[in-house]
Amino acid sequence: MPRPGSLAIDARMLLANPLCMRGIESITIGVAAGGLLYREHQKRTLAERLSAATFETLLNAISANDGETGAHVRRVATYALILGEAAGLDEGTLHGIERVALFHDIGKLHGALTDIFHDASKLSPEERRAVRTHPQRGAEVLEPLSAFYPELGKGVVSHHERWDGTGYPRGLKGKRIPIHSRVVSIADSFDAITHRRRYSHARSFRDASRAIADGRATQFDPELVDLFLTPPVQSKIERAMRSAHVVRKKPGISRRHGENQSAPDIPFRWRPRSRGSSARGRQS
Ligand SMILES: [Fe+2]
Repeated sequence: MPRPGSLAIDARMLLANPLCMRGIESITIGVAAGGLLYREHQKRTLAERLSAATFETLLNAISANDGETGAHVRRVATYALILGEAAGLDEGTLHGIERVALFHDIGKLHGALTDIFHDASKLSPEERRAVRTHPQRGAEVLEPLSAFYPELGKGVVSHHERWDGTGYPRGLKGKRIPIHSRVVSIADSFDAITHRRRYSHARSFRDASRAIADGRATQFDPELVDLFLTPPVQSKIERAMRSAHVVRKKPGISRRHGENQSAPDIPFRWRPRSRGSSARGRQS
């Protein structure tokens, strides 16, 4: 803490020792660097806001086209982030996981697939083959963003790969499947089981957790499954699931069915000034 009168002493010293050229130079450089840093910060903030707005627009387009998918991807993002945080993944990877979760099913909106996905009847083998193209179609839609978010297309195209290599489209095995897809795959399956869809009834939290356990080392990354089944993660997921299942009074925006959406308000990581917990280090 400065002693009383010390500022006055400093001012007197300055008057007695006018700044030499070198002093002025360093101050000028300091001010210029500060200005540049400030401008850089402003530019970065603008870029972050623009990117957040782009993603938000894309998400709105998904919800407007298909309210059910819009609500599903938000729930999947919530579960995926709980699991990703429990795995100690760093903040950048968590951002990526959130993006992959939110856009993993964008390929379902493809004109060739929408009717199939909205048909409640049993799929023919040909329709089933068409459905299996949605990860690739999703990656193609997101391709213009790949220069900025390289994990996005790779994560989306791989979200139906399986740990044992029997998934699609490429039959990737084990850790060759991006971490984003491995996390999202568990969250996606969990939501598909616990949430009623046109073609299936909702099953309980316990049933869904059992199904995830059954898929350990066949469908899913065994380490992530073990983590998913730990009591702290289970209680967070269950709490998120219960709050997501509270149907909102506000009408949905689905033009197809006008159904209410049950999607949690998740703190989107790509929204500026909404960053979550700090990084803890592991990146796969
Ligand atoms: Fe999918």
